[in-house]
Amino acid sequence: MTSGYTDFHNHLIPGVDDGARDAEFSAGALAAMRRDGVSQLIATPHFDGSLTRDPERLSARLAELDAGWTILRGVVDADAAQHTSAIRAERGVELMLDIPDPVLDDDRLRLAGTRFVLVEFPGLQLPPLNAGMAIGFIRRAGWQPVVAHPERYRNLDSVASLGELSRAGALFQVNAGSLLGHYGSTAQSRAREILAHGIASFVCSDYHARGEPATGPFARALAQAGFGEHVKLLLEVNPGRLLNDEAPLPVPPIAVRENAVSWWKKLIRR
Ligand SMILES: [Fe+2]
Repeated sequence: MTSGYTDFHNHLIPGVDDGARDAEFSAGALAAMRRDGVSQLIATPHFDGSLTRDPERLSARLAELDAGWTILRGVVDADAAQHTSAIRAERGVELMLDIPDPVLDDDRLRLAGTRFVLVEFPGLQLPPLNAGMAIGFIRRAGWQPVVAHPERYRNLDSVASLGELSRAGALFQVNAGSLLGHYGSTAQSRAREILAHGIASFVCSDYHARGEPATGPFARALAQAGFGEHVKLLLEVNPGRLLNDEAPLPVPPIAVRENAVSWWKKLIRR
């Protein structure tokens, strides 16, 4: 059992993508995540799936990530020296499915070396045809794809459109900031629908080391609305199980009650 939140989608490795710029940014971001209640994290820099079929570019990109990871390890160790409890940090990537058949045998491409892989589709568009093809390919290779921020896809007309991905074996991770309106009102209402249907197994920060992460405000808002058990499942239990290479527990739909409209509105105003 974990204590504290496990965040497996963030951009804390310095200098390798549009996340933390350098070690100082990583340190600030780590402190912010600690304040938000995160005790375990998996850092997930952007990574193009097509590189996995191009040995030369693959090893160049992995070498870049290795160097950034070494710097982040130093930041994490320095943070641990200043606190009574250390934050556990692991590595993975946020894999762009720019090809439908990435090769994910290298442990560094999966979340903390588990069977779980964090994936996203290019251009914030779900593939109009055969959306489940890449998911099915990854599953058949023995890995478990987790689709990052499904609520952010511009062509997601309704949560029903996620059915094909789900049937192909995908799990879903919602961004905490989506529900708070950080990515616009459409992503916000899609995030709301996804949680109302109990489709998401996880909520993570997708923190890019700028501003404050949304995890804490998200957790407080939901807990205040009476959904503390959902917070625990989405931020603590299920991501903690992922880190142990265990399947997530089902998350009950957030029940629409008489006061649901007002609490969603309250949430939107935060
Ligand atoms: Fe991300």
